[in-house]
Amino acid sequence: MKKVKIGIIGIGGMGQGHAESMKKVKEAQLVAVCDIEPDRAKEVGEKHGVKWFTDYKELIDSGIADAVIVATPHYFHPEISVYAMEKGLHVLSEKPIAVTVRQADTMVEAAKKTGRVFAVMYQLRNNGMFVAAKKLIQEGKLGEIKRTLLVNPWYRTQAYYDSGSWRATWKGEGGGVLINQAPHMIDIFTWLAGLPKKFEAKVRTKLHNIEVEDEASSLLEYENGAWGYYYTTTNEVPAISYLEIAGDKGKIIYNGASLRFFATKQPISQFTFNNKSMWASVETKEKALRIPKKEASHGAIIKNFCRAIIKGETLVSPGIEGINSVEFINAILLSGYKGKPVETPVDRDEYDAFLQDMIKKSKDKTTVRVQIQTDPNLKK
Ligand SMILES: NC(=O)c1ccc[n+]([C@@H]2O[C@H](COP(=O)([O-])OP(=O)(O)OC[C@H]3O[C@@H](n4cnc5c(N)ncnc54)[C@H](O)[C@@H]3O)[C@@H](O)[C@H]2O)c1
Repeated sequence: MKKVKIGIIGIGGMGQGHAESMKKVKEAQLVAVCDIEPDRAKEVGEKHGVKWFTDYKELIDSGIADAVIVATPHYFHPEISVYAMEKGLHVLSEKPIAVTVRQADTMVEAAKKTGRVFAVMYQLRNNGMFVAAKKLIQEGKLGEIKRTLLVNPWYRTQAYYDSGSWRATWKGEGGGVLINQAPHMIDIFTWLAGLPKKFEAKVRTKLHNIEVEDEASSLLEYENGAWGYYYTTTNEVPAISYLEIAGDKGKIIYNGASLRFFATKQPISQFTFNNKSMWASVETKEKALRIPKKEASHGAIIKNFCRAIIKGETLVSPGIEGINSVEFINAILLSGYKGKPVETPVDRDEYDAFLQDMIKKSKDKTTVRVQIQTDPNLKK
C-alpha cells in the first residue's frame, strides 16, 4: 500500500500527539518534523528517527514530504498552509484554519487554485451522533430550520493560560475561548444548521487573569429568519454541551451523551392553521436513531486525509469549510467588543482594523511557565 509521506510543522503538544496517532495509520509515514525551537525539533525528530528542521520552508522545499500537518499556534496556519500548497504539498491544518476571515480566504483560494487536498482537524465531524444528525438534516427530516441552540462550556485553569506565551493574548492567538476551545463545536453547529447571517453578541473576561474573552454569548439570526442562541466559556463544569435544532417537521436534541430525534406528524406551519381545535397540539414521536460507529479521533482524520490523497476518498473535514467557524468567531468578537450587531460575511477591513487595535493594546505576559502537553483527554 502506498503511504503518504508527512511532515509535521509545529511539534508542541498537538504536533507530538499527531506523531503518535500516525503510528496507527497504515496509510501515513512520518518523514520529518519542524519547530522554531531547535531543541524540541531535534529531540522529537530523533525520537521518531526522522529529519528535523527549524524553518518550515526548508522542510517543504526539501522534497521529502508529500503532505504537511500544520500544528503551530493559529496565526501561522495560513502562511504555512498556503506556502505548502503552492509548492505542491497537501495540507492538514490544525483548527482554527486561521484567526481572521481574510487569512482564511487566502487558504481557500490556495486550495482552489492548486487543487491540493486541504483538510482541517475537526475530528468531531467523525462523531457518530453528529454524522446521524447531518444525515437527518440532509434528508429533510427536520424540515425548514426555525430555531437553533448551542451551549458549549469548557473549563481551563489559570495554569493552562500561563503555559505558553502565545496563549490567551491578542498578539499570540487573536482571541480567547472563541478562537481556541470553541471552534470544534462551532464547526459542528455551522455544519448542521448553516452560518447565521446576523450576530448580536456579548463577550467578557469573567474569571481568568487574561486579556482576551473567557465567556461569550450571542443571539443569532439566519438567512431564512430563524433565530438561535450561542454560549461558550472556559469557566464551567461539568463541560457538557447542549445542541438543539428545531425545524418545521422535527427537532434534534444533543446533550453530550445522547442524540434524540422527534418527528412531527404534520409540519407545524400547516397544522397550526389547519387544525380547528383551540387546545390541539402537533403530535410528535421520538424516533430511534441508528448512530454509526465512528472514531472521532485525530488518527481517523489523518487516515481520511491520506486516503483522500491516495484514492480520492471524500474528506470528512474539508479545509475550505473551515472558513465558516472563522466567520462565526470573528462576527462574535467584533459584535461583542464593538457592542453592535454584525453580519456575515464579516467585513474583512473592519475585522483587521479591530484586531490590530486589540493587538496594539496587547501586553506581553510576564508570568509564563512553558508547558508542552496536549489535553490528555483527547482521543488520539
Ligand atoms: N484538534 C484538536 O483537538 C486540538 C487540540 C489542541 C490544540 N489544537 C491546535 O493545535 C495548534 C497548536 O496547539 P498546541 O497546544 O500544540 O500548542 P503548543 O504551544 O504546545 O505547540 C505549538 C508549537 O509550534 C511551534 N511553533 C510556533 N511557531 C512556529 C513556526 N512558525 N514554525 C514551526 N513551529 C512553530 C512552537 O515552538 C511549539 O512547539 C493550535 O492551533 C491549537 O488550536 C488542536
